[in-house]
Amino acid sequence: MNMEKNKQSNSILAGKFILLGITGGIAAYKAAELCRLFIKAGASVRVIMTPAAKEFISPLTLQTLSKHQVYDDLFAGTKRYTVEHVELTKAADLFVVAPATANTISKIAGGIADNLLMTTMLAARCPVLLAPAMNTQMYQHPALLENLRKLRAWGYHQVGPAIGELACGDTGAGKMAPVEEIFAAAGRILRQNSSWQGLKVLITAGPTREAIDPIRFITNHSSGKMGYALAEAALERGASVTLVSGPTNLEPPRGADLIRVNTAQQMYEAVLEHFDDAHIVIKTAAVADYRPAVRQKEKIKKGESLTLELVPNPDILATLGKRKKQQILIGFAAETNNLEQNALRKLKQKNLDFIVANNVTQEGAGFNTDTNQVQIFFAGGDSKCLELMSKKELAGCLLQEVDLLLKERNTTGS
Ligand code: CTP
Repeated sequence: MNMEKNKQSNSILAGKFILLGITGGIAAYKAAELCRLFIKAGASVRVIMTPAAKEFISPLTLQTLSKHQVYDDLFAGTKRYTVEHVELTKAADLFVVAPATANTISKIAGGIADNLLMTTMLAARCPVLLAPAMNTQMYQHPALLENLRKLRAWGYHQVGPAIGELACGDTGAGKMAPVEEIFAAAGRILRQNSSWQGLKVLITAGPTREAIDPIRFITNHSSGKMGYALAEAALERGASVTLVSGPTNLEPPRGADLIRVNTAQQMYEAVLEHFDDAHIVIKTAAVADYRPAVRQKEKIKKGESLTLELVPNPDILATLGKRKKQQILIGFAAETNNLEQNALRKLKQKNLDFIVANNVTQEGAGFNTDTNQVQIFFAGGDSKCLELMSKKELAGCLLQEVDLLLKERNTTGS
């Protein structure tokens, strides 16, 4: 069984650059075997040890196995390390921390950077796999469980812990997962991260702004968080991503081709320019349906009353629905009432593969939140109701649905 898992992992690990973080737990000695497995599978490994880890296993062992110097001290006498840890994260395909102690896990969740492993961790943009290892009581502490939950919601991967006899003599959950399992989990993550290689994903996010005069505009409460989370999730799968974004305060996802727009008309033009080449198109943007018929050149002065004439903006998604060829087309619907009826109408009218609908009046599902609770309606007639979750988790779930559609197409040849 383990051999089978290892065989599967081998091909994907060849040529990959793995950072192996070792923290101070009794399971640290097993990290040497993990390092050996990675090297044998063709990966290049750099080891970072915390000061406590060195009490459990000698850096020389890891240096010999990885054939590279071990990184273990933030202030190692030269400035080289402080720059090098950032360089290491740029090259890394995966950061594995095995064993990951309660202390290190909680420091990651708290953003603490007090040793080389932690500064590297905070700078890392590659996927991170944690293999927790600790005493059962420590593992069951609510602070630790909460920190692990928080890290998983942020996209950190976790393998184990296993249940078994611990070094302290207790039996329970807390034992580091077997190295073969950690190795297989690393392979799975790397495989998942390259599954969308070659796919072009076009995403729109955020609100649009429709100017009334040089000072005022019409807009809405969209934060762009859902679209940006989807862009990050698609990038993590290895896709090339074009993100057409209305004004937001968000950090651009690293690696995305970001096109900033203000108005619906600008979004329309940018989207149409990239649509024909795209394989997957996801329209999370909250596009203003109307714009002022005239944009006043000077500031409008206050008076008794003001009537604004509005004219309709183009419906970008409906236009894409008409032009659609091979693309998988996904829309969003933010509703306050008659959710199903409205979503189904938009699904059909805009010729979508599926639509993601949410009730913005519901707690945790509105604009500008970090969470969302949605229903998905598919062109084939199926529907799904998902639970309340972070937008990052939801992005993963939605891309899984796209994965299923891609697989369906591959098997039917359409
Ligand atoms: N959309 C679009 N262009 C528009 C309006 C909406 O591309 N001018 C897209 C949105 O990005 C979303 C979907 O259409 O993916 C549904 O948007 P929504 O605002 O919920 O619906 P509308 O079509 O505008 O209909 P209504 O305002 O009547 O709810």
